[in-house]
Amino acid sequence: TQPLRLGIAGLGTVGAGVVKIIQRHADLLAARSGRPIAITAVTARDKLKNRDVDLSSYHWAADPLALAQSDEIDVFVELMGGHEGAAREATEAALRAGKDVITANKALLAHHGHELARLAEDNGRVIRFEAAVAGGIPVIKTMTESLAGNAIRRVMGVMNGTCNYILTRMESAGLPYETVFEEARQLGYLEADPTLDVGGIDAGHKLAILSAIAFGTEMNFDAVEIEGIERVSIDDINRAADMGYKIKLLGVAQMTARGLEQRMSPCLVPADSPLGQLQGGTNMVVVEGDAVGQIVLRGAGAGEGPTASAVMSDVVEIARGVRLPTFGQPASGLARAQAARTAVP
Ligand code: NDP
Ligand code: HSE
Repeated sequence: TQPLRLGIAGLGTVGAGVVKIIQRHADLLAARSGRPIAITAVTARDKLKNRDVDLSSYHWAADPLALAQSDEIDVFVELMGGHEGAAREATEAALRAGKDVITANKALLAHHGHELARLAEDNGRVIRFEAAVAGGIPVIKTMTESLAGNAIRRVMGVMNGTCNYILTRMESAGLPYETVFEEARQLGYLEADPTLDVGGIDAGHKLAILSAIAFGTEMNFDAVEIEGIERVSIDDINRAADMGYKIKLLGVAQMTARGLEQRMSPCLVPADSPLGQLQGGTNMVVVEGDAVGQIVLRGAGAGEGPTASAVMSDVVEIARGVRLPTFGQPASGLARAQAARTAVP
């Protein structure tokens, strides 16, 4: 049987995690995929950096663009980040060169997901992104596959591990913002630009992706109303606790009579509710379908192992020959949605 040949661009927290899983579980992955999974080529910025993983048997491509177009690969795995530059250019080049694409890059998807999906469809390729929303939680496949028989009414939740980590550690350990921020960095939670995390933008990217899937609408990140956690003080957290509440960066997307409402903002939630009890880098996504009712998904939303786990679900899916449409339906079939502007509470 022909192996599925992967080219991995980006060998940081997530990329190194993916290499480790493939090396650790080669037999398991081959059995589940029906064929071997082989990394043939990799690249990152610094070839000499020690990454705590053995890369010696893989070809080191000169740059992401060369990797994306290489005859040595079937699937381009984009784990660099950023919605412009190398990630966007190499992803487009890979699709044009006839490669399937796997990415964890929610910024790229929120800004260019629709056009990338169209490009994939025009070239007969697929683009998969389970890791892009809520880290290790299989929310994309749950919504696109398991809930395919439902009209989705609402999707909401805590979708940024960094913010949840900061808010819960500040409260439970009484630690200052700077200390818990550094802890989040050590755990591999942070974006290369952490203002995306604390500014609510990363979580907004994820909400926009889930909205497109939930409501069959074109991605509209610009219409997400966003407020981050930068202005939440320890006094706010303590005052909320005195009243029996926790502060969470909560996202809500729902179709209203006025159009599609997408909000990401710090909210008070009852301390004894499942959302209120969410600790550390944990995420929670709540989906409401007309047939199934409410589904609650909870798990690690960031970090090496959980995120690499999600990337691997896409690898195995492609290796099995499953060719799911991008947002649960082809991008060419997504409707335009009027954005409902509301005041952020
Ligand atoms: P890191 O910053 O840890 O790693 C990024 C990697 O990409 C590094 O190896 C870096 O090279 C490489 N890289 C960056 N720019 C270039 C370039 N221009 N050319 C070649 N290589 C480049 O990021 P993460 O692993 O944390 O994140 C990767 C992606 O996964 C991002 O899109 C992120 O949003 C997403 N993600 C991350 C999660 C997490 O928990 N960390 C969870 C879910 C998604 P070098 O090492 O040489 O500097
Ligand atoms: N920086 C992101 C977070 C990584 O903290 O949730 C996971 O997408």
